[in-house]
This record gives sequence, C-alpha cells and structure tokens, in this order.
Amino acid sequence: MLAVAAARFDADDPLSALDLGERPEPEVPAGWTTVTVKAASLNHHDLWSLRGVGLREEQLPMILGCDAAGVDQDGNEVVVHAVISDPEWRGDETLDPSRSLLSEKHPGTFAEQVAVPRRNLLPKPPELSFEEAACLPTAWLTAYRMLFTRGGLVPGSTVLVQGAGGGVATALIVLGNAAGLRVWATSRSEAKRERALRLGADQAFESGARLPERVDAVMETVGAATWSHSVKALKPGGKIVISGATSGPSPPAELTRVFFLQLSVIGSTMGTREELDRLMRLCVDRGVRPLIDRALPLREAHAGFEEMARGDVFGKIVFTP
Ligand SMILES: NC(=O)c1ccc[n+]([C@@H]2O[C@H](COP(=O)([O-])OP(=O)(O)OC[C@H]3O[C@@H](n4cnc5c(N)ncnc54)[C@H](OP(=O)(O)O)[C@@H]3O)[C@@H](O)[C@H]2O)c1
Repeated sequence: MLAVAAARFDADDPLSALDLGERPEPEVPAGWTTVTVKAASLNHHDLWSLRGVGLREEQLPMILGCDAAGVDQDGNEVVVHAVISDPEWRGDETLDPSRSLLSEKHPGTFAEQVAVPRRNLLPKPPELSFEEAACLPTAWLTAYRMLFTRGGLVPGSTVLVQGAGGGVATALIVLGNAAGLRVWATSRSEAKRERALRLGADQAFESGARLPERVDAVMETVGAATWSHSVKALKPGGKIVISGATSGPSPPAELTRVFFLQLSVIGSTMGTREELDRLMRLCVDRGVRPLIDRALPLREAHAGFEEMARGDVFGKIVFTP
C-alpha cells in the first residue's frame, strides 16, 4: 500500500528523511482492526518524528501520521482516537505512562490502511466530512482539553493564544470563540493576524506586543520564543496552559513572576476518547468546523510537510490517500 514514512532522522533537514513509497499492509494484533483511511491530517508531531524526536533508529522506517478518519471493516465511517493506552488501563488514557500516539510505537495513518485498537474507533458524525473529522483527534482535541479540561475557562474570560496560525492555535481560536471566551491572538505575520480576526479572535497582536490589559489565561504551543511574553501577559492568579514548544523547550523561567503573582503553569497533552466524543458533538451542535489550510493527495505529502516546516500554515493540512 502507498504510505509516507520516516526513512531516517535529520534534525536540520527533516524533509530529506521523508519517504513516499509502497509498504506492507499493517499487522493486526488481537483486539485491533484495520481502517481504510479516507483522510489524515498533518501535525507538527510528524516533523518532530523526522527530526528523531520520540522515535528510535531501530523503529525505522516508521509510517507517520497520528490522525485519521475512514471506514472500518464493517463499512462504518469512523474517527480514530490517536492515544493508544495499555488494554488494562482504566480512566484518562492520557495519564497512562505507557501510552503512545499512532506513529510512535505502531505504524501511523499516512497510508491507505492503518491498524488500530477497536476501542479507539468512534463513529464519524455524518455532518463532518472525512477531511474535517481527520483534523480533530490531535490538534483540535489538544485545544479542547487545553481550554476546558486543563484550563477550566468559563465564558467571559480573556484568553491569549500565542502563534495564531498553527493547527492547535486555530482550533483554540475557533473553540474559544464558540464557548464565549474573549479570544486574543498573536502572530508573527500580519496576514495571519488578519485571518485570526476573521476566524473569531477579538483582537490580534504582533508576537511580543504590549497588550491593552492583562489576561486570565494564555494558551502556549510556541515555547521559548513567546514564553516571557506569556508570563508577563497574565493577571495575578492567571494560568498558562502549555501543550507544545515549537520554537524550543528552554525559555527563561520567569520564576519571580510565577510565585509573586501566584501564576499557574499547567501542562496538557492530547485528550481522552470521551473528550473527543464531546468535541465532535460540539462541532455538530454549534456548526463549528476545523479550518483546513489545504487538502492534498497523499502522493503530494511532501508539499504539505514543506509548508509546515516553513511556518506558512494557517489551519490544518489534510492528506487523502
Ligand atoms: N502535547 C500535545 O499533545 C500536543 C498536541 C498537538 C500539538 N503539540 C505541539 O504543539 C505545537 C504546535 O503544533 P501544531 O501542529 O499546531 O503546529 P503548526 O501547525 O506547525 O503551528 C506552529 C505555529 O507556531 C507558531 N510559531 C512557530 N515558531 C514560532 C516562533 N519562533 N515564534 C513565534 N511563533 C512561532 C506559528 O504561529 P505564527 O506563524 O502565527 O506566529 C505556527 O503557526 C508543536 O510543537 C506540537 O508538537 C502538542
């Protein structure tokens, strides 16, 4: 079957490690099944994998891709929950210390077929296209958990989203707006700031700009480049919810502000199957749809990876096998 894989690792030139070619059909362990992939979405995670983050040499070649929507063996339209927990694990799957995402231990979704645990399948709502549904399991689920589960944000709160253009960031803007939050966003690019406003942000600022007032919470995925700004943007008692560090993991700690203003720094990773179910219901009931930057045939995946590596993305890139 056709698949997109990491053939090797290259920290400086990750795209050179990308391989498009024929791979054997997936093996199906007990309790697992196969899904015919109709759409899969690109995440920054896939670029990290090409750089060698989270994978070992002996796992190569590894088919990339965490997210998929497709058709199961009984002909049902399904969405794949990307967090693979131990079969014995009970409760919040993201807290299982042995959990992994598709493409970390098991082959990923950038292929015509993917093997997944049966319990990771959820019915795809008919209101969502395969392309839209494929955006939900990583970026959109992460945004949902950041705002509502980990952030505990309530309508009327002001939230700052750093780096407006990304897959997670655009989801934060749309979901925050749908939930009645006052959403402010930053971006390095003027064009992306304008698009953020059209997407539902109440105000958009240049990265690092002084804000009109301090905010209740900041949603961080950018990391080192924006961290100091995030800490300084908060009201006393405010919180930063962080799920990523695209620009690097070692920002200045700003420890004095953290204790003096009694700030909270809250980590967030992916989301549970139940949260994915609630997210899909929210999309259907409120008419919320993931923002797709562009959909490409899987054969043209290289172009999508290039766009993400350049930082040109606004929303999600989707591949169709
Ligand atoms: N913990 C989890 O479960 C989880 C889940 C999903 C994602 N993540 C992580 O979250 C991050 C975002 O993921 P994604 O898929 O949304 O990535 P993406 O679509 O590639 O978006 C990255 C965004 O970060 C901003 N950015 C990048 N470098 C920057 C810099 N030097 N200064 C300012 N802004 C910068 C950009 O915003 P502007 O161009 O608008 O400034 C860009 O749009 C990644 O690091 C990813 O690994 C973690």
